Amino acid sequence: MGKNITWHQSTVTKMDRHTLNGHKSCVLWFTGLSGSGKSTLANAVDHALFMRGIRSYVLDGDNIRHGLNRDLSFRKEDRKENIRRIGEVAKLFVDSGQIISSAFISPYLADRELVRNMFAEGEFIEIYLHCPIEVCESRDPKGLYKKARKGEIAEFTGITSPYEKPDQPEIFIETNKMTIEQSVSDILAYLKERKIL
Ligand SMILES: Nc1ncnc2c1ncn2[C@@H]1O[C@H](COP(=O)(O)OP(=O)(O)O)[C@@H](O)[C@H]1O
Ligand SMILES: [Mg+2]
Repeated sequence: MGKNITWHQSTVTKMDRHTLNGHKSCVLWFTGLSGSGKSTLANAVDHALFMRGIRSYVLDGDNIRHGLNRDLSFRKEDRKENIRRIGEVAKLFVDSGQIISSAFISPYLADRELVRNMFAEGEFIEIYLHCPIEVCESRDPKGLYKKARKGEIAEFTGITSPYEKPDQPEIFIETNKMTIEQSVSDILAYLKERKIL
């Protein structure tokens, strides 16, 4: 960090924004294999929050790789930088008083821990979407598994690149057993229980 850079304390605080909005802010960090349902559930939760008048937003892996992180590959070091930057962006959104649903495979435990440590206690809510790879592969919403099996995608999570499961996620969802509606209602119930809503 440059020695001439000093943090400027904001005049309007995160707490002020919580008071204005009538709810707290946090990041719902969806993690799981490709096709496990991260984008689907992140958007479904975001929609449910939006319909209740809650300030929310989705950060989605593919979309971020179109812009902010277009310079990064899927190698381990670049995946780490991808997640670090997203963590920092999510932190800004949380500071702005919103509930962020982030949808990134984020396969490495250490990278997710790094992001968790950027946040205050209770602000980082890890949601592990467990789904057997065979089911993810049969869904194959973007045809990526087919390409990966043909060897057309290097370092594909679950096939040629590892996925490290969270040890103690705040929320555990088996997307091959629960409907989208059930999953959304469980997540909203968690937010109410934690007095975020
Ligand atoms: N219970 C469920 N929860 C989430 N997604 C589901 C569920 N059942 C079926 N799906 C389908 O699985 C696919 C998941 O794709 P997507 O959300 O793009 O996954 P990811 O973002 O994790 O790669 C979608 O086509 C979705 O409709
Ligand atoms: Mg997705």
